Amino acid sequence: MIRCKMAIARLVACFVLYSSLGHIPSSLGVILRTTDKIVWANEFEPIELTCLIESISTNNPRIEWKKIKNGVPSYVYFQNKIAGDLENRAQLREPANILIFNATRSDTAEYRCEVAAIDDQRDFDEILISLAVRVKPVVPRCSVPEAVTVGTSTELRCLENEGFPAPQYRWFHNNEELPQDPKNSAKFANSSYSINPDTGGLKFRRVRKEDAGEYYCQAKNDAGHAQCPTQLMEVYDVDILGIFLKVFGAVVGFLCLAVSICHSFRRGCFHKKGHNENNYNWPAQNSGVEYGDADEGHFRHKSSFVI
Ligand SMILES: *[C@@H]1O[C@H](CO)[C@@H](O)[C@H](O)[C@H]1NC(C)=O
Ligand SMILES: *[C@@H]1O[C@H](CO)[C@@H](O)[C@H](O)[C@H]1NC(C)=O
Repeated sequence: MIRCKMAIARLVACFVLYSSLGHIPSSLGVILRTTDKIVWANEFEPIELTCLIESISTNNPRIEWKKIKNGVPSYVYFQNKIAGDLENRAQLREPANILIFNATRSDTAEYRCEVAAIDDQRDFDEILISLAVRVKPVVPRCSVPEAVTVGTSTELRCLENEGFPAPQYRWFHNNEELPQDPKNSAKFANSSYSINPDTGGLKFRRVRKEDAGEYYCQAKNDAGHAQCPTQLMEVYDVDILGIFLKVFGAVVGFLCLAVSICHSFRRGCFHKKGHNENNYNWPAQNSGVEYGDADEGHFRHKSSFVI
């Protein structure tokens, strides 16, 4: 039964095909077809844009190809010759296909195949094909902080500008890929990072000791991938630089104070000789409360007046 049905179906199909073939030629004129209206190619590889002629009666139709980039058309096949951007880089293949030997990123554009057949009733047809050339990412630029403090937030960045389509980013920690979401991994469950695969950012909300180590990033698209060299991120318990700066600041402050005190002592001693008691008691009423020592009070009160 099944075999019988299939045989009948095949017969019907054959008949439909035969009758349609018998009708097309001279009555409809030139008709074009392509296998792909949207074509992806890899850079530095050959690619063929197909322009198939379904039906035609004219013997020597006029074939032209135009490249349309940013709305501006230019000839790439004209008067039976490859021209313009594709000169010496392509050839026409039967029936009207164009073969680019070595695609480059600048070939990304729309291409229009136009066939004019003067002896046909319908004497013109055209077909538009859009070509996108994939470009392998180059080595991304990565920025990894050399040292961060436990508990602070930080961001590692990765950027690549050549790849087409725009690459997706992945981060590796000590040669192991960081899962997109740390919660899904037993090993990284306690880490506070988040990865944005579109922008290349690796953000830590609170850095842990365990987050220290070697990092690199990979940029990947359909044409290939590239990665930056590993960089070391160290994680400190405390902010050593901050503490150093504070200590340094305190020492400098103390020295300044000491120098100014010494200085005023000397000036105080010097002026003491030339003034009477009344003169140098007077400023004591306005200032010097912070200097508690009674014995040294003379000089200090005096000095605050002088300064
Ligand atoms: C394609 O072109 C590039 C750059 O112009 C060149 O380096 C490469 O060798 C070419 N590839 C082939 C297969 O000709
Ligand atoms: C994550 O933290 C919990 C609780 O502090 C701990 O028991 C567990 O061992 C940690 N996991 C890892 C992989 O460090």
